[in-house]
This record gives sequence, C-alpha cells and structure tokens, in this order.
Amino acid sequence: MVQGTVNLNTQLDREWIQEYVDDWVRFYRKATKEGKVATYIPVLAEANPEHLGISIHGKNGMVISSGDVDVVFTIQSISKVLTFIVACMERGVSYVLDRVDVEPTGEAFNSIMHLEMKSLNKPFNPFVNAGAITVTSMLEGKNSQEKLNPVFDLLEKIVGYRPIINQQVFKSEDETSARNRAIGYYLLETGLLESDLGVTLETYFKQCSIETTVNDLARIGLILANDGLDPESEEEIIPRQIARTTKALMLTCGMYDASGKFATYVGIPAKSGVSGGIVALAPPRVRPMQFPFIDGCGIGVYGPALEDRGNSIAGMKLLKHIASQWDLSIF
Ligand code: DON
Repeated sequence: MVQGTVNLNTQLDREWIQEYVDDWVRFYRKATKEGKVATYIPVLAEANPEHLGISIHGKNGMVISSGDVDVVFTIQSISKVLTFIVACMERGVSYVLDRVDVEPTGEAFNSIMHLEMKSLNKPFNPFVNAGAITVTSMLEGKNSQEKLNPVFDLLEKIVGYRPIINQQVFKSEDETSARNRAIGYYLLETGLLESDLGVTLETYFKQCSIETTVNDLARIGLILANDGLDPESEEEIIPRQIARTTKALMLTCGMYDASGKFATYVGIPAKSGVSGGIVALAPPRVRPMQFPFIDGCGIGVYGPALEDRGNSIAGMKLLKHIASQWDLSIF
C-alpha cells in the first residue's frame, strides 16, 4: 500500500484513496447476494438487499464515503453501545458491570440459554439482548422519553443533529417481538430489571428504531477511536474509562457469535445491527507507516443483506479488506 513519506492529506492522495474505496465497494457489493435482509421485524424486510455503503471519518478531518451513503436506516443493536455509555455515565461503570458481565456468549444475540444455564445470575454482556434490556432498565427516567433523552443528547453532540425514532420500525418490533418479551419476563422474574417491564421494552424498541446513516456511525466510531474526545474541539464527549470499556466490549462481543473471527481476521472494535449497520473504529497506529487514517478513524457501514449471525455480510467483508489494506488491526 502506501509506504514512505507520502503526505496523505493532499487532494491528490485523497482522490486516489477515494478511487480505491469506490472500487472496493463495487467489488464487495457482489457479496450482498450471499445474505438475506432481516424479516423477523417485518418492516426491515423492505430494505434493498443490494445496498452497500461506507463512510470513514479520520481524526485528521479526512472523510471518505462511497456507495449507498444517503440511505437512512435504523440503528438497531448499535444503540446498545449508546445506552451502555449513557448508563455508565449515569450510574458508574462498576454499578453497570455489577449487573451485566463482560463475557462473550458465543451464542446468537437473542439467545436466552445462558440466562438459565450459567450461574452468573446476570447477563453475559451488554450487547446480547438480555444484557441490553437489563442496561436499558438501568437508564434514569420513569418513561421511554426520559430514559432516552440523554441518549439523544449524546447522539446530538456526536453527529451534530438530533436523530428521530422511526415509528414504523418501532411499531413493527413492538407488535412482533415475543422473544424480547420472553427475555424481559425472565429478567423480571430473576430481579434483574430496574424499571417497569413495559417501560423498559418500549424504551428498548425505541432505541433500536433510532434513524441513522453511515456518516453518523462513522462519527460515533471516531469519538470512540479518539478515546471519547471530539477530535476538533478536544471536548470530552465520553469519559475515557467508559470509552475504553465500550471498545473492549465491541471487540469481544460486538459481532455476537462472529466476534472471535472478526477480532482475529479484521482486528478492530465493531458493533453490528440487524438492519445492516456496522460501526467500527481504528485507534492511532504506532508504526510511522503512511497508511490512510494512520492517526485513527471511525467507520460506518451499511449493508442490509445479513449472514446467519445477523451481521452485514458484505459490510464485514469490506471491513476485512480495508483493515488488511490499511493495517487497521489493533494487534
Ligand atoms: O432486539 C432485536 O432483536 C433487534 N431490535 C436488534 C437486534 C440486532 O440488531 C442484532 N444485531 N445484529
């Protein structure tokens, strides 16, 4: 790739990097045919399975976007990153981790097997549905609006506008999610819920229905890559310990039962959502080699065609290729 003393901030280099990413998106769009859009939340089945888009925001201010970057989709499980951050900011990391562990399950995101099979007496991690619903119950507030206001405040600071909830997607999940209701009742029965079950599930379905774009996801990734600091203003958006704990969980649990392979073959913290989004990030690299985004970047990917674990199949392949080309791995 790029070696030596090339200055990657020049317009020429930027155009050359853009051409590479355009080519890679064109190539990996073919992989969308290997996946299927989610249908268990009926409205998600309306997505175009051939869509693939990416946006990369560098700490140096360079932005590279390619493919279907104007598509608005719902954040789904990527919202679990935000609610975990807000719960830790409201209650403290220790309080949250006393109630939800930090271990990958190796099971599907909506599995309830570990809840009963293991004597943990708490969900394995905040990114499987059981852990996420538990975290959502910890958010301060008596109703979904009060619970989610701080999440929208955080998002507004990161992406520069206040996103909205897609009411059609919210209604679609609220009307069909027997599995999450089962998880909720189990958590209620075992004393793990800290809010009314109905309020908790309404809040959870609404957080999953927040609208987003690959640009927004790249901004979230960039703030985390920058240890919680806004790279332009240096304002602390997310406290350092919370940012670091979040990145560790993204690396070990963010892609569910594909997290081990993703960490091994891609090597960067990431969190997927079932509507096809992936937020990923690369911290500054140590070696002085001139790869693009050497001082860190956030990445947002959208590709609604999913592999069987609920992750964007073309998105994962595209991220794997870029990580190998630009030495993004943190290992
Ligand atoms: O709870 C659910 O099933 C969805 N609202 C979110 C699941 C999800 O995004 C899993 N990630 N791939």
